[in-house]
Amino acid sequence: MMQEYLTHPIFHVLAEIAEENNIETYVIGGYVRDLLLHRPSQDIDIVVQGNGIALAEATAQKLGHLKVSVFKNFGTAMFRYKGTEIEFVGARKESYRSDSRKPLVEAGTIDDDQKRRDFTINALAISLNKKDYGRLVDPFKGLQHLQERLIKTPLEPGITFSDDPLRMMRAIRFATQLNFKIEENTFKAIRANKDRLTIISTERIMDEFNKIMLSPEPSRGIFLLEETGLLEMFFPELTALKGVEIIDGIGHKDNFYHTMAVLDTVALYSNDLWLRWAALLHDIAKPVTKKFIKGQGWTFYGHNHIGERMVAKIFNRLKLPQNEKMKYVQKLVNLHMRPIVLSEEIVTDSAVRRLLFDTGNDIDDLMTLAEADITSKNEEKVKRFLKNFKIVRRKLKEVEEKDSIRNFQPPISGEEIMETFHLSPCRLIGDIKNAIKEAILDGIIPNKDEEARAYMFKIAAELMKDKETNG
Ligand code: CTP
Repeated sequence: MMQEYLTHPIFHVLAEIAEENNIETYVIGGYVRDLLLHRPSQDIDIVVQGNGIALAEATAQKLGHLKVSVFKNFGTAMFRYKGTEIEFVGARKESYRSDSRKPLVEAGTIDDDQKRRDFTINALAISLNKKDYGRLVDPFKGLQHLQERLIKTPLEPGITFSDDPLRMMRAIRFATQLNFKIEENTFKAIRANKDRLTIISTERIMDEFNKIMLSPEPSRGIFLLEETGLLEMFFPELTALKGVEIIDGIGHKDNFYHTMAVLDTVALYSNDLWLRWAALLHDIAKPVTKKFIKGQGWTFYGHNHIGERMVAKIFNRLKLPQNEKMKYVQKLVNLHMRPIVLSEEIVTDSAVRRLLFDTGNDIDDLMTLAEADITSKNEEKVKRFLKNFKIVRRKLKEVEEKDSIRNFQPPISGEEIMETFHLSPCRLIGDIKNAIKEAILDGIIPNKDEEARAYMFKIAAELMKDKETNG
């Protein structure tokens, strides 16, 4: 019996009203699953044998005239109570006609309703009825599968997946979020039905994909997407990273495995979806820029710049935000090698200042990505890189404390230059401004007003003299 799990105050009210009206009522789905897994959950789904809307309205009335949203077409109703969304639906029996994609939906029993759900662990219900309040209704061994950490469809998987092909993505999403395995037949059915994903909207696919991205170990889900063939359906740029080519006995690393390792490492340090996306896409242009050059081996020249452009195309196609989030991912993809290149050389202050200037407030994220990007098998090399990274991080801190480059604002404005030299708008103003900025980044002068002003006089004199001599 599960009474002790039903701590939310709504359940007793519901039980009372269900009893008064003689309607069989159950709590079902994700809420029950998460209760049993001791995971926090927000939404409560209630299924009734009868009119779900009527029960929702009666309950909302009793709780103090709460506002109910009714979706007549779906036969569902919803209200909010103490921060929880409570959704009501009548139990349904659904059958599909082979000649049409539109399902026939009829009223059914709790048993019918459980059959048409996606996975056994999501088909669990708990009775809210007086006769057996708290009884777990588990016709498909959902509890056992929770204990075995198994994702399995309640019916023959081909049927469950053709009812809603998004469930193939959901299987992999739950496996990744919960660290569960997908049962063998269920897995095989995903592979066999992968082409059905084409009828699902990109937005719904990406909702699931982003949940995978936000899981503790996103690579688990992406490997599963790859193995089932689903990844190829909506993200061919990622599958193109797979494989190793060998010429003259020289191979390059498998960029798919490398990307997965970088993604998981970044995920250890950050829950930010977009930093994780930057990790996912940092080497996305490697396949298209790959070249074997005799004497040099494998090269991927410009993969960061081309990658930056590919980010825009991919975000557009996958209906991801076309705003500052995308720009952020583009910037990190473009700059992802800079800290590594820097750490290979003697770390000069001016190189650090330039990195800070180009990266601004995203410097910490860039460092997280760049450090995760070190996945060499050569331990000596890794050690050396990580040591140099420490130096880069220390210098970044020192230089920032001294020169505040992160949010660089030109210390001398264009107006001040115009007023000082009685100039009307012309190129010279930009040149002076730029020369001051360069001098600060090179460390010739500190990022301070007074020194910048003195430098302005000096540089203006030089530039004007040049102009005179060059006509
Ligand atoms: N469901 C289903 N098929 C789908 C989507 C949902 O059978 N394609 C059922 C499942 O029983 C699921 C319930 O509807 O438990 C609620 O769905 P949803 O809110 O999308 O998922 P949850 O299981 O609650 O999980 P999460 O909140 O993590 O999305």
